[in-house]
Amino acid sequence: MSKVTVVGAGNVGATVANVLAHKDIVNEVVLVDIKGDFAKGKALDTWQQAPVDYYSTKVTGTDNYKDTKGSDIVVITAGIPRRPGMSRDDLISTNAKIVVSVTKSILKHTKNPIFIIVSNPLDVMSFAALKASGLDPKRVMGMAGILDTARYRAFLATELDVSPKDIQAVLMGGHGDTMVPLPRFTTVAGIPVTDLIKKSELNKIVKRTQKGGGELVKLMGTSAWYAPGAAAAQMVESIIKDDGRIFPVSAWLQGEYGVKDMFLGVPVQLGKEGIKRIITLKLNAQEKKGLKTSAAAVKKVITDFKKMKLV
Ligand code: NAI
Ligand code: 2OP
Repeated sequence: MSKVTVVGAGNVGATVANVLAHKDIVNEVVLVDIKGDFAKGKALDTWQQAPVDYYSTKVTGTDNYKDTKGSDIVVITAGIPRRPGMSRDDLISTNAKIVVSVTKSILKHTKNPIFIIVSNPLDVMSFAALKASGLDPKRVMGMAGILDTARYRAFLATELDVSPKDIQAVLMGGHGDTMVPLPRFTTVAGIPVTDLIKKSELNKIVKRTQKGGGELVKLMGTSAWYAPGAAAAQMVESIIKDDGRIFPVSAWLQGEYGVKDMFLGVPVQLGKEGIKRIITLKLNAQEKKGLKTSAAAVKKVITDFKKMKLV
């Protein structure tokens, strides 16, 4: 038996629930939202898709945390998204209060779930959830790297006219414009990407990836949800299946990569207990510099969060 709760039934949360249901790997998905019957409606719509798309995962919606009792994994997507002109960091004053209160509400009914945070600013909201929960840091993580790497891989697939399936890549750092795509760790069907593309073109793709979230906000007036929802569902899948997969995930660092007491995107192996291990790559001087800059940007927002004195 496995149960997953998704808090926030908006664009991203409803997509996580829908993608998870299609994977048919958990018994139950509970969608929670403060907006009255909204989560019930979204859940019912996804449940009514089951006979068409052939899945058995029961999807229900609620505004009552009692219904989340006994969740194995909780995905938090509650909060406001970016609007044009906003950075992810601009969301902190609203979203920090939401993430802290959601985390505490969940723990009233479930003692030791695994939390996957999606709400922005991502690395700082993961910090907020860890501090509000007091859980083992292995059980609290943020979704960003799978999405950012997927954007990078999709841009490369278009440029090289190959299938995105064949592109493997690693991207590290915070979920912001300072994120660090790593061309040295990017391959196309095993071939180093640097052998297949001009440096100037690759640099353009790296820059487009760093601003990938903003590109979608400009196009749609709000932030993305299909790729983010699928990315969070992929993390749930890997934890449920305990299949040893490795993804870039925002993880609590204790000295790895010279970073301490904060969440930052790094390659990790996921498993049934959450983060099974953090993988330490040998970065060159330029990559280390990029990661340091990214860590400093996240740290600044953690300072703002601490000033709010919510935990
Ligand atoms: P949305 O506005 O469509 O949905 C958010 C939902 O949260 C709304 O339905 C709202 O009623 C609900 N909510 C607000 N406060 C709540 C509370 N206290 N308890 C339960 N539900 C509550 O927004 P969207 O597009 O789904 O984005 C959600 C969050 O995810 C945003 O903060 C956004 O920036 C972030 N995001 C993060 C990504 C990442 O890579 N980490 C990617 C995409 C979005
Ligand atoms: C994204 O990257 C805004 O974090 C959101 O699409």
